[in-house]
Amino acid sequence: MLVQIGQRKAEPDVVALLVECHGRIRKFLGFAQRIAREPEVEAEEVRAVAGQVRRYFAEALPLHIADEEELIVPALAGAGLDAALAAMRAEHADHAAAVARLVEACDLLARDRAARGELGAAADALVELFEPHLAAEETVIFPAVAALLRERRDAIRQGMRARRE
Ligand SMILES: [Fe+2]
Ligand SMILES: [Fe+2]
Repeated sequence: MLVQIGQRKAEPDVVALLVECHGRIRKFLGFAQRIAREPEVEAEEVRAVAGQVRRYFAEALPLHIADEEELIVPALAGAGLDAALAAMRAEHADHAAAVARLVEACDLLARDRAARGELGAAADALVELFEPHLAAEETVIFPAVAALLRERRDAIRQGMRARRE
C-alpha cells in the first residue's frame, strides 16, 4: 500500500479553474441580459447586479485574458497551435470595445434605468463575440493545456494565483 505522508488536499487542476472562469463570463452575461429585459426585476436589484457585472468585466475578465496570453500562450509554444493561439489573442483585442461598452452601460444603468435597453444590446453583442471564442478555447486550447505535464500545469496555476494576490 502506498502511504502518502503529509498529503494536502488536492488543488483543482488549472483546466478546471479556466473552465470556471468561462462559467463566470457566461453567468455575468446572463445576469446582464436578465436585468436588461425582465420587467419584474426591482430597481435596487438592477443596480446591484449591474455593479457585479461591471466589476466582473472591468476587473476579473482582464485577469483571465492575461492568464491566457501570458501563461498559456508561452506554455503551448511548439504545440502546433500557433494559428489558434494567434486567433485567440486577436479576438481578445477585438473584444475590448464591446467589453468597454458593457461596462459603460452598467455605469449608465446605475444612474438611469432607461439604460436597460443599451445594457441588453451591449450584452447581446458580447454574447455573440464570446460564444465562439469560449468554445474554441474549450475545444482546442484547454485540451492542449490538459495534456501538458503536471509541473507545467501547476506552474500555470501558481501564476494565476499570484496574479490575484
Ligand atoms: Fe480568451
Ligand atoms: Fe478564456
